[in-house]
Amino acid sequence: MKLSGQKILVATLLVLGMNSAQAVEGYKLYQETCAKCHGESGHADNFRGYLYFARNFNSKEWQQKMSDADILQRINQGPRIMPAYEKSLSDEQKSALIRVIREFGRN
Ligand code: HEC
Repeated sequence: MKLSGQKILVATLLVLGMNSAQAVEGYKLYQETCAKCHGESGHADNFRGYLYFARNFNSKEWQQKMSDADILQRINQGPRIMPAYEKSLSDEQKSALIRVIREFGRN
Protein backbone atom coordinates (compact mmCIF):
# COMPACT_ATOMS: atom_id res chain seq x y z
CA MET A 1 0.00 0.00 0.00
CA LYS A 2 2.71 2.42 1.02
CA LEU A 3 4.92 1.27 -1.82
CA SER A 4 2.21 1.64 -4.44
CA GLY A 5 1.42 5.16 -3.21
CA GLN A 6 5.06 6.00 -3.52
CA LYS A 7 5.19 4.60 -7.05
CA ILE A 8 2.14 6.59 -8.07
CA LEU A 9 3.61 9.79 -6.67
CA VAL A 10 6.92 9.29 -8.42
CA ALA A 11 5.09 8.45 -11.66
CA THR A 12 3.04 11.65 -11.43
CA LEU A 13 6.12 13.75 -10.75
CA LEU A 14 7.60 12.26 -13.91
CA VAL A 15 4.55 13.32 -15.88
CA LEU A 16 5.01 16.81 -14.47
CA GLY A 17 8.32 16.98 -16.27
CA MET A 18 10.87 16.02 -13.68
CA ASN A 19 13.42 13.42 -14.58
CA SER A 20 13.24 10.21 -12.60
CA ALA A 21 16.29 10.99 -10.47
CA GLN A 22 14.78 14.34 -9.40
CA ALA A 23 11.40 12.78 -8.64
CA VAL A 24 12.88 10.01 -6.52
CA GLU A 25 15.32 12.39 -4.82
CA GLY A 26 12.60 14.89 -3.99
CA TYR A 27 10.34 12.22 -2.56
CA LYS A 28 13.15 10.65 -0.53
CA LEU A 29 14.29 14.00 0.74
CA TYR A 30 10.75 14.82 1.85
CA GLN A 31 10.41 11.48 3.67
CA GLU A 32 13.79 11.85 5.38
CA THR A 33 13.59 15.52 6.26
CA CYS A 34 10.01 16.72 6.41
CA ALA A 35 7.75 13.71 7.00
CA LYS A 36 8.47 13.44 10.72
CA CYS A 37 6.47 16.62 11.25
CA HIS A 38 4.36 16.92 8.11
CA GLY A 39 3.44 13.25 7.68
CA GLU A 40 4.38 10.76 4.98
CA SER A 41 1.67 12.08 2.70
CA GLY A 42 1.59 15.66 3.94
CA HIS A 43 -1.40 15.25 6.24
CA ALA A 44 0.56 16.12 9.40
CA ASP A 45 -1.32 13.17 10.88
CA ASN A 46 1.42 12.00 13.20
CA PHE A 47 2.50 12.75 16.72
CA ARG A 48 4.67 15.76 15.94
CA GLY A 49 2.22 17.04 13.36
CA TYR A 50 -0.47 17.27 16.04
CA LEU A 51 1.95 18.53 18.64
CA TYR A 52 3.20 21.39 16.47
CA PHE A 53 -0.09 22.08 14.66
CA ALA A 54 1.51 21.50 11.27
CA ARG A 55 -0.65 22.34 8.26
CA ASN A 56 -2.31 19.71 6.08
CA PHE A 57 -0.67 20.05 2.66
CA ASN A 58 -3.50 18.03 1.10
CA SER A 59 -6.02 20.78 1.72
CA LYS A 60 -7.24 22.43 -1.49
CA GLU A 61 -7.65 25.77 0.30
CA TRP A 62 -4.08 25.63 1.52
CA GLN A 63 -2.77 24.73 -1.94
CA GLN A 64 -4.65 27.64 -3.52
CA LYS A 65 -3.60 30.12 -0.89
CA MET A 66 0.11 29.33 -1.11
CA SER A 67 2.21 30.30 -4.14
CA ASP A 68 5.40 28.40 -4.91
CA ALA A 69 7.27 31.48 -3.68
CA ASP A 70 5.37 31.31 -0.36
CA ILE A 71 6.31 27.66 0.06
CA LEU A 72 9.94 28.40 -0.77
CA GLN A 73 9.98 31.21 1.75
CA ARG A 74 8.67 28.86 4.49
CA ILE A 75 11.29 26.22 3.60
CA ASN A 76 14.02 28.86 3.79
CA GLN A 77 12.88 30.48 7.02
CA GLY A 78 11.19 27.66 8.90
CA PRO A 79 8.12 29.00 10.73
CA ARG A 80 7.86 28.36 14.47
CA ILE A 81 9.46 25.05 15.51
CA MET A 82 10.44 24.14 11.94
CA PRO A 83 14.15 24.36 11.14
CA ALA A 84 15.28 26.89 8.48
CA TYR A 85 16.58 25.08 5.40
CA GLU A 86 17.88 28.12 3.52
CA LYS A 87 21.53 27.06 3.72
CA SER A 88 21.24 23.31 4.18
CA LEU A 89 19.27 22.53 1.00
CA SER A 90 20.18 23.40 -2.60
CA ASP A 91 17.82 25.27 -4.94
CA GLU A 92 17.22 22.01 -6.83
CA GLN A 93 16.29 20.22 -3.62
CA LYS A 94 13.92 23.02 -2.64
CA SER A 95 12.13 23.00 -6.00
CA ALA A 96 11.87 19.21 -5.84
CA LEU A 97 10.25 19.56 -2.39
CA ILE A 98 7.80 22.16 -3.67
CA ARG A 99 6.73 19.72 -6.39
CA VAL A 100 6.27 16.94 -3.84
CA ILE A 101 4.12 19.24 -1.69
CA ARG A 102 2.07 20.31 -4.74
CA GLU A 103 1.52 16.66 -5.58
CA PHE A 104 -0.07 16.08 -2.15
CA GLY A 105 -2.77 18.58 -3.13
CA ARG A 106 -3.84 16.46 -6.08
CA ASN A 107 -5.01 13.53 -3.96
C1 HEC B 1 10.38 19.84 13.46
C2 HEC B 1 9.18 19.72 12.68
C3 HEC B 1 9.21 20.17 11.23
C4 HEC B 1 10.05 19.75 10.22
C5 HEC B 1 11.21 18.76 10.31
C6 HEC B 1 9.62 20.44 9.02
N1 HEC B 1 8.56 21.25 9.31
FE1 HEC B 1 7.58 22.44 7.98
N2 HEC B 1 6.50 23.24 9.50
C7 HEC B 1 6.52 22.82 10.82
C8 HEC B 1 5.64 23.66 11.61
C9 HEC B 1 5.37 23.51 13.10
C10 HEC B 1 5.12 24.63 10.73
C11 HEC B 1 4.18 25.77 11.09
C12 HEC B 1 2.78 25.31 11.14
C13 HEC B 1 2.30 25.16 9.75
O1 HEC B 1 2.13 26.18 9.09
O2 HEC B 1 2.15 24.02 9.28
C14 HEC B 1 5.65 24.32 9.40
C15 HEC B 1 5.33 25.01 8.25
C16 HEC B 1 5.71 24.63 6.98
C17 HEC B 1 5.23 25.25 5.77
C18 HEC B 1 4.31 26.45 5.68
C19 HEC B 1 2.88 26.11 5.96
C20 HEC B 1 2.04 27.36 5.95
O3 HEC B 1 0.85 27.25 5.71
O4 HEC B 1 2.56 28.46 6.14
C21 HEC B 1 5.83 24.59 4.71
C22 HEC B 1 5.65 24.85 3.23
C23 HEC B 1 6.67 23.56 5.29
N3 HEC B 1 6.57 23.60 6.66
C24 HEC B 1 7.44 22.68 4.57
C25 HEC B 1 8.40 21.84 5.13
C26 HEC B 1 9.37 21.09 4.35
C27 HEC B 1 9.45 21.07 2.83
C28 HEC B 1 10.16 20.44 5.25
C29 HEC B 1 11.36 19.55 4.97
C30 HEC B 1 12.46 20.17 4.24
C31 HEC B 1 9.68 20.76 6.58
N4 HEC B 1 8.62 21.62 6.46
C32 HEC B 1 10.20 20.27 7.77
C33 HEC B 1 7.25 21.76 11.32
C34 HEC B 1 8.27 21.11 10.64
